[in-house]
Amino acid sequence: MANRHFGNLADVWKHAVLVEVLEREPPGWYAETHAGSGAYAVRHDAEREFGVLRFLEVAPRFAALARSRYRAIAASYVGRDPGLYPGSALLAMTVLGDASSYLLCDLDRGSLTDLRRWSRELGLHRCEMAEADGMTAVAAWLDRAARGPRLVHIDPFDPDVRGPGGYSALELAARVADSGALLVYWYGYDEPGAQGRAHQQLAALTRAPLWCGEVMVTGTSDSLRDLGRTTTPGTFGIILANVQAATAAACAALGHALSAAYADAILPDGRPASLAFTSRLGC
Ligand SMILES: C[S@@+](CC[C@H](N)C(=O)[O-])C[C@H]1O[C@@H](n2cnc3c(N)ncnc32)[C@H](O)[C@@H]1O
Repeated sequence: MANRHFGNLADVWKHAVLVEVLEREPPGWYAETHAGSGAYAVRHDAEREFGVLRFLEVAPRFAALARSRYRAIAASYVGRDPGLYPGSALLAMTVLGDASSYLLCDLDRGSLTDLRRWSRELGLHRCEMAEADGMTAVAAWLDRAARGPRLVHIDPFDPDVRGPGGYSALELAARVADSGALLVYWYGYDEPGAQGRAHQQLAALTRAPLWCGEVMVTGTSDSLRDLGRTTTPGTFGIILANVQAATAAACAALGHALSAAYADAILPDGRPASLAFTSRLGC
C-alpha cells in the first residue's frame, strides 16, 4: 500500500467529482495513471476523521452530498466489518462495472495485486493492470485505444516531473484534453498563494473546454502537517475537460455543499476550520 493519505479530505473531493462524472457520462474506456490500491483498511485517526468519516456523518444534511453516488458507495465500503475506504480505481470499477474496459497503472506491485483481486470480485473481464509509469502507459493507450467515449484520470504526485515516455502529468493532461477524451486531473499545493495556478497552466496548453473546482482549507496551522494536504495552508482541486455543462454544474453544487458541510468543522487542535470553494470555467 503506497498511499498513506487515503480517505482524507482531498480524496473526498477528488472521488466525489470523479464518481459524479462517471455517473453522468459513463465512458466505455477508463484509464488511470496513478491507480493506487483497490481499497484501504479504514483508520480512525485525525486525517480520516477530518476527511471521509466527517463527510459521511454530515453529508445526509446537505442535499447535493446526500444524493451523490460517491456518498452511497463510500458509506457501503466504510460500513463493512472491517471498514474499507475505496480508492479511485475501485470507485470507477464499482460505478462502471463490466460495461467498460480499464487500464490501471501503478509502480507498486502490491497495489496492482489488490486491484486484480477487486476486478475478479466484481466480475470484470476487460481490466488491464500495468506495472509501469502511468504517464507513459496512458499516452501509449491514447494512441491505440479504440474510438468511443474515453476517460483518463490523472492523479500525480508532481505535475511537472517527466516520466520515461517524456510527458509530465500536466502535458499528458493537455494531450488528453486535446484528444476530446474526458479528463479528470487532480492537483494539490501545500503552499499558500497557489490558487488558480493549475487551471492557468493547463489552460495555456490546451484549447479544450475546462472546468476547475478548487478547495482551500482555512484556519489551519503548520503544526498540523501530519494531517497532510487537507489541512496545511494550501489548496487542492480537480480540473475536468470536455464534460457537459450539466456535469460541471453538478460538480459545482457538490463543492458548494462540501464547503457548507464543513462550515463548523473543528480541527484536532480545537481551532475552527473552514473550506473555501471556488469554481472556474474556461479554456
Ligand atoms: C495517491 S496514490 C493514488 C491514489 C488513487 N488514484 C486514488 O485516488 O485513490 C498514488 C499512487 O501512485 C503510484 N505512483 C507513483 N508514481 C507513479 C508513476 N510514475 N506511475 C504510476 N504510478 C505511480 C504510487 O505507487 C501510489 O500507489
